[in-house]
Amino acid sequence: MKFDVLTLFPEMFEPLKQSIIKRASENNLININLVNIRDFSEDKHNKVDDTPYGGGAGMLMKPDVVDRAYNSVKAENAEVIYLTPQGKTLNQEMIKRLSKKQHLILLCGHYEGIDQRVIDKIVDEEISIGDYVLTGGEIPAMVLIDSVSRYVDGVLSNESTDEESFSNGLLEYPQYTRPEVFDNIKVPEVLISGHHENIRKWRKEKSLENTFKKRPELLDNVVLTENEKNYIENLKKEVQE
Ligand code: ADE
Repeated sequence: MKFDVLTLFPEMFEPLKQSIIKRASENNLININLVNIRDFSEDKHNKVDDTPYGGGAGMLMKPDVVDRAYNSVKAENAEVIYLTPQGKTLNQEMIKRLSKKQHLILLCGHYEGIDQRVIDKIVDEEISIGDYVLTGGEIPAMVLIDSVSRYVDGVLSNESTDEESFSNGLLEYPQYTRPEVFDNIKVPEVLISGHHENIRKWRKEKSLENTFKKRPELLDNVVLTENEKNYIENLKKEVQE
C-alpha cells in the first residue's frame, strides 16, 4: 500500500520510522513517501502561503503550490484525503475500508488552512481525527497511516486485529500475563484452567461488561444474542441495586 504525504513539515513524520510501521516499510508491505510542498514553490523566497482575501487571522497555503505538489504524485487509482477538523470523524470501520485501497494521497494543511479552490479540485474525502483543532494535518496523517497499516496483509498477525477493541463493535476483554500472582492478586482462575470454551465465554462476558461500563453507547450498534442481551440486563440490574 502506498501513502504519499503532501506536507510542509516532512520532518514531523519521524515517529513512523519506529517499531511495527518501520518493519512494514522495510518489508515493502507499505511505502510512505513524504513530499515537501515547499519544493513546489516557484517564488524566489520559496513562499507557500499568503494572507486570506477578505481579511482575517493567519496565513493560507497557496492553491498553485499545493496543486503542483499533488501533480507530482497523482495517479488514476489514488484516493486523495485532506486531514481537517471539518472532515468525517475517523473510526475503525473507515480504517478497514481505507486499508483495501492501493494508494492514498494525504494532504496536510498547516497554519489557517488551504485555499478552497485546490481542495475542491483535488480532494476526494475529508477526514478528521476528532472534534478538536491541531496545528496541522501532520499528526492526523500519522494516525491514519498507523491505523490503516495495521490492516494491510502481513503487517500484523490476523489474530491481533480479530479480537481487539472495536473489531466486533465491542471493547476488548482484560488480559493477563506472568506472574500468576502480582501484589497478592491472582490471575482469573478460568484463564489457567485450560478449558477453551469457558475461556471464550469469560472473555465475551468481560468484553460486554467493559463496553457496558466504559462505552455503553457502543452497545446500540451491535447485534447481540439472547444470552448476551440477558447478560447486559443483569449488569444493568447490578448497577441499579
Ligand atoms: N487538522 C487540524 N486539526 C485536525 C483534526 N482534528 N483532524 C484532522 N486534521 C486536523
